Amino acid sequence: GVFATTQVMAASISPDQYQQAVDEAYAKFKNVKEGANADYIPILASVPSDMFGVVIITRDGEVYSAGEQKYEFSIQSVSKPFTASLIMAEQGPKTLREKIGVEPTGLPFNSKIALEIYEDRSVNPLVNAGAIAAVSLVEADSEKERWKKVLGNIEAYAGRELTVLEEVYDSEYETAWSNRGIANLLYNYGRLYSDPEEALRVYTRQCSIGINTHDLAMMGATLANEGVNPVTGKKVLDKEDVPELLAIMATAGFYDESGEWMYSAGLPAKTGVGGGIVAVVPGKFAIATFAPPLNPAGNSVKGLKAISYISGKLGVGLY
Ligand code: DON
Repeated sequence: GVFATTQVMAASISPDQYQQAVDEAYAKFKNVKEGANADYIPILASVPSDMFGVVIITRDGEVYSAGEQKYEFSIQSVSKPFTASLIMAEQGPKTLREKIGVEPTGLPFNSKIALEIYEDRSVNPLVNAGAIAAVSLVEADSEKERWKKVLGNIEAYAGRELTVLEEVYDSEYETAWSNRGIANLLYNYGRLYSDPEEALRVYTRQCSIGINTHDLAMMGATLANEGVNPVTGKKVLDKEDVPELLAIMATAGFYDESGEWMYSAGLPAKTGVGGGIVAVVPGKFAIATFAPPLNPAGNSVKGLKAISYISGKLGVGLY
């Protein structure tokens, strides 16, 4: 039915159609003025607000782009599904479900109330609680080893070596009282699997990894290509586990705006307060955007408009 239609249409998208969709989305939304940079992580307020990049990478590694490609922004919450993938690769989807959870909260990404009202506590790996729990669950004998695995996994998705934006790390770690509270609450409930401060540090470093728009599209393209990086050929996640990961992105990738997002764009996706968004057209391609100004739910305004537009234009919404 619907899925078959999607496949047929996506299969017939020509290079010109991809490029045109990217160019149009860029031109249509580059002057949008709504939203504001995140400032609860103080340094994010100083990232130039008018930067805007749009990139599509297909499962064969073809690239279509417009606007900013090179600027390295902090990955922030866009890292979360990729570390959830690491847990799946290491310990299987069942462990992810049992030790973290897969239920959308319908609440903001940093909600403490969610920890009190849901029996799972961490609830899902895309909110801060579940993402801090995910790094704590990585099998490691030391903080160094834990970090190496987390970084190595994200590098494998991007297909290149990445570095931490140390200023972003310092700015966030110095002000991380809310996440520290979440880590300690999880630990109290037996839903954190390492020392809480260690989990907080590794999580904050993960969020401070610098990526550009092209890297983000490559990470998504690896999911579109059933867990294999289209350029390096490295398998990062078993093909069988990709649908579960995309399901979590579809239901929780935009936090308390996930319903609105699926209604308009119809694609599994993840956002970050650094201004990045990646969306995946399963089996076909990924769309990544970078634009720092966010709406109140913490999602990039230009990015969500651009991806919704491209999804509609190319007819690739899943439903
Ligand atoms: O923990 C935090 O608050 C940030 N490091 C990440 C939050 C985030 O990106 C939420 N996304 N839209």
